[in-house]
Amino acid sequence: MENSRMSLAERELEIPVSEPERQYYFIERARKDLEKMKEAAGRQLTFCVTTFGCQMNARDSEKLVGILEQIGYIEETDEEKADFVIYNTCTVRENANQRVYGRLGQLGHIKKKNPHMMIALCGCMMQEPEVVEKLKKSYRFIDLIFGTHNIYKFAELLATRMESGRMVIDIWKDTDKIVEDLPSERKYPFKSGVNIMFGCNNFCSYCIVPYVRGRERSRDPKAIIREIERLVADGVVEVMLLGQNVNSYGKTLEEPMTFAQLLKEIEKIDGLERIRFMTSHPKDLSDELIEVMGQSKKICRHLHLPVQSGSTRILEKMNRRYTKEHYLELVRKIRAAVPDISLTTDIIVGFPGETEEDFQETLDVVRQVRYDSAFTFIYSKRTGTPAAAMEDQVPADVVKDRFDRLLAEVQRIAGEMCAVHQGSVQTVLVESVNEHDPKLMTGRLSNNLLVHFPGDESLIGKLVEVSLDECRGFYYIGRQICI
Ligand code: SAH
Ligand code: SF4
Ligand code: F3S
Repeated sequence: MENSRMSLAERELEIPVSEPERQYYFIERARKDLEKMKEAAGRQLTFCVTTFGCQMNARDSEKLVGILEQIGYIEETDEEKADFVIYNTCTVRENANQRVYGRLGQLGHIKKKNPHMMIALCGCMMQEPEVVEKLKKSYRFIDLIFGTHNIYKFAELLATRMESGRMVIDIWKDTDKIVEDLPSERKYPFKSGVNIMFGCNNFCSYCIVPYVRGRERSRDPKAIIREIERLVADGVVEVMLLGQNVNSYGKTLEEPMTFAQLLKEIEKIDGLERIRFMTSHPKDLSDELIEVMGQSKKICRHLHLPVQSGSTRILEKMNRRYTKEHYLELVRKIRAAVPDISLTTDIIVGFPGETEEDFQETLDVVRQVRYDSAFTFIYSKRTGTPAAAMEDQVPADVVKDRFDRLLAEVQRIAGEMCAVHQGSVQTVLVESVNEHDPKLMTGRLSNNLLVHFPGDESLIGKLVEVSLDECRGFYYIGRQICI
């Protein structure tokens, strides 16, 4: 029977209840809806997904793209030209939110001129009730709003929007649901992010993530292995295992398993060459993991280990559950097991109550560890987190001064750390044509450094040996060595 001739009740009956079948049903339904929209427009319709925030969001966006392509939309990289714009938002710091509001204003003007245009908002910002209230009130032109927990329902929500013509808002507070085997696109053919867990249970006192991403839940190891095997069969050589705290992977599974055990299983996958992961929380970094990293042939020589502060007093107020000494001891153990490892970190400056002495402790850790690079952040007050209610918020000018001093030290050391590889020959995964010079290719070392070297596009996705001839501060200019 033709869909359009079915009664509503008949139509409801044919909707599968179980996932992912239900979403495949809605992909098909949205595809038919889109066909009609394309006929009305007399042309193809395009989409653009703009991603803010971390690698989790980047991976989620690939899932949105996968669904949109199955529905029949064509990708358009210029947001201002697209018929369907989706913002996958981040709310970890205040300036992330401001950027979204700013750009939304502009989009509203563009939408007035394009009758076929739709706008959807999703991601972490949508999990904050005040944000959704503000959008409902002041940004009426938005078509679809959903959150982080029901992102797998994108096709269903989109079909609902297309068929009702009304603004659709669906936000869940939390979920323990993990839906496997939905379509997904990949930005790169040769590397891919793989979620191993969702959510976070750590409640660091400054951080909004546990409130917007919900409780920690690990994917079934079999589903992870199956996904990676499929990726490898499809040409992927490097995976990035993703979670807010990968070191606590598997604790809540019916048959508990450690992150180190998962890594050992992934290492066995034939054809997979490189394994990366992020993020590691220092409190859960086990000796078992350090040992596995030391023995592995595939785990990259890079560990991102956010320290946040070097002051034990501040770490306690941050609810990080390790001390400066514990952190430095971990670094010593990792360097002993994996001498050529590159260490990177995240640091927050200006947490409430941070004194000059506390800040000096942070500088001391930076000097002792000698990070290969560090993301430095100015503390941002997130409403609803315990730190937002703490007294002694540090004045902006003091924070800015500390931030500048920290950045200078981080960059001085990172430059020195980069230079130590001068003259060595290392394996590089070739990722792209250089952005500025089409005669150069850009590749990544196991330790995450970039190198640019003469070559052609046929090298993309291949692992090649490159001599690191000239250090240019934070990257290298090299030349391919044929062995
Ligand atoms: N799960 C990861 C980090 C996720 S958020 C971890 O625990 O390491 C990425 C980084 O953003 C954090 O490491 C922290 O340095 C920074 N960040 C989080 N909340 C912040 C805030 N309120 N202000 C400033 N930086 C913040
Ligand atoms: Fe935020 Fe801490 Fe969880 Fe990282 S571990 S996401 S910083 S609460
Ligand atoms: Fe931002 Fe959400 Fe990631 S708040 S940092 S996009 S988990």
